[in-house]
Amino acid sequence: MNNFKNLRGTVDLFPDQLIKWQNVEKIIEEQLLRASVKEIRTPILEMTELFMRGIGEGSDVVSKEMYTFLDRGERSCTLRPEGTASVARALIQNGISTMPSQKLWYMGPMFRYERPQAGRQRQFHQLGVEFVGYESLRSDIEIITLAWDILAKLGIKELNLEINTLGDHIDRLSFQKEFLKWLEVNKNSLDLDSQKRIDKNPLRILDTKNIQTKKVLEDAPRLFDFLSEKSLQRYTNIKEQLKLLKIPFLENFNLVRGLDYYTHTAFEITSGSLGSQSTVCGGGRYDNLINQMGGKETPAIGFAIGLERLILLSGNNLEESRETDIYIVNKGIHAETLAMELSRKLRNYDLLAELDLTGASFSKQFKKANKLKSKSIIVIGDDEALKNEFVIRLFNEDSAQNNEETISLDDVIKLDNWLNKNLLIKRS
Ligand code: HAM
Repeated sequence: MNNFKNLRGTVDLFPDQLIKWQNVEKIIEEQLLRASVKEIRTPILEMTELFMRGIGEGSDVVSKEMYTFLDRGERSCTLRPEGTASVARALIQNGISTMPSQKLWYMGPMFRYERPQAGRQRQFHQLGVEFVGYESLRSDIEIITLAWDILAKLGIKELNLEINTLGDHIDRLSFQKEFLKWLEVNKNSLDLDSQKRIDKNPLRILDTKNIQTKKVLEDAPRLFDFLSEKSLQRYTNIKEQLKLLKIPFLENFNLVRGLDYYTHTAFEITSGSLGSQSTVCGGGRYDNLINQMGGKETPAIGFAIGLERLILLSGNNLEESRETDIYIVNKGIHAETLAMELSRKLRNYDLLAELDLTGASFSKQFKKANKLKSKSIIVIGDDEALKNEFVIRLFNEDSAQNNEETISLDDVIKLDNWLNKNLLIKRS
């Protein structure tokens, strides 16, 4: 027989681990709702062309990391490596020109064929936020503060925000011309990876991790010096605003991001506790993407947070699960039928009830209730069931006698009153 295993770089998540994921997702969704950001869901599978055009063929993501295959109709399809291009496609396809500006979020799996290690997987999850149709400085600031506040709300400390500006298309062209000249002269002093990037994606060389190349780059022309007056002013204003809002940041002239669509503001949030995969959030402005993909000119800005890295960073307090309110102990043919009926009735209340399905002895079922630390217990034997009744009480030995009540299955009012008085639970 085959021993099936999951694919390298993918992960199974079990109920105990998912408690934290669900708590994190809930906090994020609440925070986004408060900021009036609405959810969008796009397909996980897209035409390959979308990412080649959207992210850029010279980027590592497109040239080395995509999960691409031909479907049965011989169409080239790709499992999305990120969400921004898909959101842009969805908006263009559905007539963005007739819509007002959009504040959107998405959460879900992304796929990149990278070398797996702690905090880096081949199937990973992102929360992405995209503000489409927004040009103002305030939208840059709102995006950065939203990312910062989500991380703060989750209790994550010791984060570093790094920002840079990539200028507009024209700024970048004039920089690139000078930078390419410099690269030709200094080519042999660069590491091999950087040398390969000269033709494909020279800007990415600035982001190298190679210490020797980093040193050599210190003498290279800086994109910053090629910014137009307008781009420079925009960047200066953003820094001013961040200072006013007391959001600490560092400037990093080498922060160029791995995807080709960025213009002006680029930012990343990192944490020292994450080791080598330290970036928990990355984002920036992408004013040309929608136009490049066939839509009308539409300014936009966004970010994505890697959920695996977020989970590694968030505290143990998010591992707490909801307590069981009622455990239904039942034994006997009639008792089991009544217990099933009762558990369906209990789903009309805002409570967590668990029906024992084992048919084990009463004492074993009590032990299970005890292990779960259930707040209360319902006991049904055939004697009660034949009278269409059940016994309910708090699962606390001291108070067992005072609050024990025998209730008929049809007596909704009596059940309401007991739950309300003893567990503060109401019908939902
Ligand atoms: P990104 O920087 O490629 O940006 O990814 C954002 C975040 O996703 C990273 O900072 C990291 O936390 C997480 N991440 C990326 N790759 C992996 C991986 N292999 N395993 C685990 N986590 C990973 C984007 O994807 C852009 N779409 C962000 C954006 C939205 N820019 C504008 N709007």
